[in-house]
Amino acid sequence: MNRTDVILTGIKPTGSPHLGNYVGAIKPALDLARGSPDANAMYFLADFHALTLIKDPTLFRDRCHELAATWIACGLDPDRQVFYRQSDVPEVFELSWILSCSTSKGWMNRAHAYKAHVDQNTRSGDGDPDAGVNMGVYSYPILMAADILLFQAKYVPVGRDQEQHIEIARDIAARFNRSYGEVFTLPLFISDPSTAEIPGTDGRKMSKAYDNTIPLFGPREALRRAIFGIRTDSSAPGAPKDPDASLVFRIFRQFADRERTEAMRDGLRQGRITWKEAKEALFDLVDGFLDRPRAMYDDLMSDRPRIDRILEAGAGRARELARPTLEKVRQAVGR
Ligand code: TRP
Repeated sequence: MNRTDVILTGIKPTGSPHLGNYVGAIKPALDLARGSPDANAMYFLADFHALTLIKDPTLFRDRCHELAATWIACGLDPDRQVFYRQSDVPEVFELSWILSCSTSKGWMNRAHAYKAHVDQNTRSGDGDPDAGVNMGVYSYPILMAADILLFQAKYVPVGRDQEQHIEIARDIAARFNRSYGEVFTLPLFISDPSTAEIPGTDGRKMSKAYDNTIPLFGPREALRRAIFGIRTDSSAPGAPKDPDASLVFRIFRQFADRERTEAMRDGLRQGRITWKEAKEALFDLVDGFLDRPRAMYDDLMSDRPRIDRILEAGAGRARELARPTLEKVRQAVGR
């Protein structure tokens, strides 16, 4: 990675942050920046992306603050990294429109999220394949391309489910460059293979959509309840258990060091550890891990104007970085 390389990623504030967000998105993105101190790392709240879903203004504001506090509590340093809220950077939306004008509608028809809606509507057979789809959902990948291309980002660390969006951003950039000259850096999807998707309490991918999440912050009781709600098989307390088939173990290993992971693995295999004890150990581990971040999170959430100030300062820097590219784009199209 070079000095001028930009690493950029965003998360949309659609639900309260959970362990899956931390393990699958926040941690790998922060680790990547730590491992490449020469690159410029940028992190943002994709807040206007969340408007496709959230229609309640109070909830929207809460989600944004929660997500900002989460990033910082998990280790993002807003003095060293550029941390901002998408909607504080109007350049994004101008670029998004310009990109829309040279993006084929057909590409959007093939985007996974939109297609999933259409498939769902087609299956339910109510006649309108576009029922319930707003234009935000449809052009979501173009706004996302603008997020990325505006900062000439080269590396975009995201989960597998976002891979197609990065490919679309790349295609949009390449087409624009072909028409108007070399304006944009072509972005690359990167996904850390060691960050396996963390299962939810029912075994499916941890997601607010499935209601199977383990919360990152909030009352410890809620953390305990979620962990004790993790599905286990019905093996008797003293029976040998298969660690790799166990959700408790698969979550445990994301937080434990090698030694503790092996001890848990052996204990389960040999039937020395009951599910109840394994859950107790998982709770202690996660609870201990969250100790400091939780204090920081609570601190920030009790002073929301401070969160806003941090985000505004970050947006100031982001806008400075955005301006030369947007200027180039405007000139390229003849403005
Ligand atoms: N679509 C991403 C998600 O659902 C969020 C996002 C929006 C994003 N713009 C981005 C991620 C730009 C990386 C880069 O999580």
